[in-house]
Amino acid sequence: MSVAAVMRRLIPAPIKSCIKRLLPGEQAPAPSITEGWEQYAASYAGDGRKQLGDEWSVPDVVGADTTAADFVTYLDQKVFAPFIGSCDTLLEIGSGGGRFTQILKPKCRRLIATDTAASMLKLLRRRFAGETGIEYLLLDGKGFASIQAGTVDVVFTYDVFVHIQHWDFYNYLTEIRRVLKPGGKAVVHHANTFSELGWQVFQSQMPESLNRPKLPYTFTVMTPELATAFAVRAGLKVERCITDVVRRDCITLLSAPA
Ligand SMILES: C[S@@+](CC[C@H](N)C(=O)[O-])C[C@H]1O[C@@H](n2cnc3c(N)ncnc32)[C@H](O)[C@@H]1O
Repeated sequence: MSVAAVMRRLIPAPIKSCIKRLLPGEQAPAPSITEGWEQYAASYAGDGRKQLGDEWSVPDVVGADTTAADFVTYLDQKVFAPFIGSCDTLLEIGSGGGRFTQILKPKCRRLIATDTAASMLKLLRRRFAGETGIEYLLLDGKGFASIQAGTVDVVFTYDVFVHIQHWDFYNYLTEIRRVLKPGGKAVVHHANTFSELGWQVFQSQMPESLNRPKLPYTFTVMTPELATAFAVRAGLKVERCITDVVRRDCITLLSAPA
């Protein structure tokens, strides 16, 4: 199957049907990023075996040497666990259905799970019902105003910054810098447009992206160099840019000055 066909399969169904209803030649108004994910979560029925987010653990698509079932554990063992270790307060940006929340929870005493989509937080509450040490925070997409400066040990975000725009990317980095304790750490997963797979994604999303606002699921053009430049301007130190574990993307490891 071509990359374009695979990417089309990953487009949230409500957005696809909205595009299909249009007359030939007509363009759907692009929903905001929040509206797009809100619709995706609201339409998620769940079949009891799969959780929302499992559909994104596709090793072939992202260029990871593992299986779909082991994807999250593989990334944890290779990247997250060695860098994060254990901590007191961990903030996750864009928890979605909790695909990574499940492995982050045992690493901290207090986990602040956040999302801009209320429906995602609803799913998350259902998934972690009865568990203690987890708080749910609805974001406005502009930062974490209710979180005090210098109170977080680790910030984590996966499969979120691939979709947000550059201004949001930089703004979140400044917010990460603000809330991190001195020496605190951040794991930021983002696109790597000029990797082999990243470039295929860029090309496959061209036809539906021309002369219109960005669609919620479209990948934002990003590189390790650009992410590094934004991070440095936000006052963060870049520990490593990892491009060989999920070869389509980049996982940038950051720290706040001690
Ligand atoms: C592709 S899902 C990834 C969810 C989860 N991190 C995972 O990997 O399974 C993207 C998530 O980011 C959320 N999101 C989108 N824009 C956001 C923003 N500006 N701030 C925080 N979360 C956002 C969406 O609502 C959605 O839950």
